[in-house]
Amino acid sequence: MLNESHRAEIQRLWARKAHQEDADVPFSERHRNLAPASAEFLSALVSGIGAKKMVEIGGSSGISTIALAAAAQQTQGKLISLEIEPIRQAESKQTIARLGLSEFVEFRLGDAADALPWLRDLEFVLIDCEKHDYIRFFDMLRLRPGAIVVADNVLSHQLTGYVAHVRSQPRSISVTLPIGQGLELTRVAE
Ligand SMILES: C[S@@+](CC[C@H](N)C(=O)[O-])C[C@H]1O[C@@H](n2cnc3c(N)ncnc32)[C@H](O)[C@@H]1O
Repeated sequence: MLNESHRAEIQRLWARKAHQEDADVPFSERHRNLAPASAEFLSALVSGIGAKKMVEIGGSSGISTIALAAAAQQTQGKLISLEIEPIRQAESKQTIARLGLSEFVEFRLGDAADALPWLRDLEFVLIDCEKHDYIRFFDMLRLRPGAIVVADNVLSHQLTGYVAHVRSQPRSISVTLPIGQGLELTRVAE
C-alpha cells in the first residue's frame, strides 16, 4: 500500500505529464506514466497477493515503479524494472532512492526483449511499453502458475488484439478494469 510520501512523488510526476500534454511537448520527449488510481490499485493488489518476484516492462520516470516497489517492501520481494531510455530511468532511480525503496528495485537499462528470456518464476508482471509489443512480450513471460499479468492502456488505446490474445490462453482468466487508462488483469492457469 502507498503512503503519503509515495503519493506525493506520484502526484509530482503526474502533474508534469499533464503539463507536458497541455504545452504540446513533442510525443518523443514526454514522460508517459501510469495513472495515480492505477498505481494505488496495483500497489494494493501486489502486496495483497504477496508477490515477491515482479517485473515491469516500461518503467519510464517511475509512477508504476513507486507503486510496485512499495508493494515489494511489504512482501520483502523485488521488482525488476525494465526501461530502454536512460534519462527517464535515471530520474526514477533518484525518486526511488529518495523514498528509501532502492533495495526493493533492480533497474535494468535496455530492451525488455533481451531481458525477458532470462527471467523465470515471475509472480507479477506489468506491461506498460509500446503497445505493438504487448502480445510479443506477454508470450515471452515465464510465469509461475497462478501469476498475474496487468497491461495498462487497454481502454485508452483500444487494445482489443491484446485482450483477445490473453483471453484465448487455456485456463486463464482475464478482466478489463476501468481504472486509469484501462487495465487488463490476467491470471494465468495454476
Ligand atoms: C507508458 S511509459 C511507462 C510508464 C511507467 N510504467 C510509469 O508508470 O511511469 C512506456 C515506457 O516503455 C519504455 N519502453 C518502450 N519499449 C521498451 C522496450 N522494448 N524495453 C524496455 N522499455 C521500453 C519507453 O521508453 C517508455 O519509457
